[in-house]
Amino acid sequence: MTDTSTRATPPRAPRPNPVRGRLNSAFFALMGGYIDRKLAAHKRRILDGAGGVVAEIGAGNGPNLRYLPPGTTVHAIEPNPHFHRRLERAAAARGVHLTVHPVPGEAIDLPDASVDTVLCTWVLCTVGDLDGVLREVHRILRPGGRFAFIEHVAAPPGAVRRVQRLVRRPWRWAFEGCRTDRDTAAAIRAAGFASVDITEFPFRSTFVPVRTQIAGFAVR
Ligand SMILES: C[S@@+](CC[C@H](N)C(=O)[O-])C[C@H]1O[C@@H](n2cnc3c(N)ncnc32)[C@H](O)[C@@H]1O
Repeated sequence: MTDTSTRATPPRAPRPNPVRGRLNSAFFALMGGYIDRKLAAHKRRILDGAGGVVAEIGAGNGPNLRYLPPGTTVHAIEPNPHFHRRLERAAAARGVHLTVHPVPGEAIDLPDASVDTVLCTWVLCTVGDLDGVLREVHRILRPGGRFAFIEHVAAPPGAVRRVQRLVRRPWRWAFEGCRTDRDTAAAIRAAGFASVDITEFPFRSTFVPVRTQIAGFAVR
């Protein structure tokens, strides 16, 4: 297996918690296959035709690389170093050309208008400055480029919303800042894209706090 990865020189990202940062990587290594199977149809839809130069924010262990054609150039914006080894292995297995950027999505070290697609799944719930990340997405996309995303979001008022509110503190602590009740769709719609297409769908599992999901794309 050839190593297709390189490491870009940082601006440094804040360090993740030494224990929870590692546990999160292990959790997604364990549960990644299950989560990916449940999201596969949505991933295929939002990434239809993606290729060329892709930036993936919060790439994690690399569960989305299989949806990109071999030979795609992928810039992984992944501040948690505990994900990097599995991510590099996934890239080598999928034949994508990976560069890992250990920087946060709020300060991406890529030039303006330099990528064809920006991708993220289950990341905007966690970032510290959602509007700041969306500004960076808009900045690095070329005109006509696509921002493709799948995110769990605040549920409408009702039982799921009550569960989200109940667990939000321990959930945020355990999952390194993840918010169960963020209105991510509204933030994307307000981020200045030429068009936005968002579909809401249920993620049926025992993980009730992430039941309400959105999948879609925005065009710069
Ligand atoms: C719930 S995991 C999802 C990982 C992967 N996208 C997936 O679908 O399995 C959240 C990811 O977002 C990353 N992350 C957290 N804060 C971030 C930030 N400010 N900028 C970029 N990535 C961030 C974490 O390191 C982690 O990889």
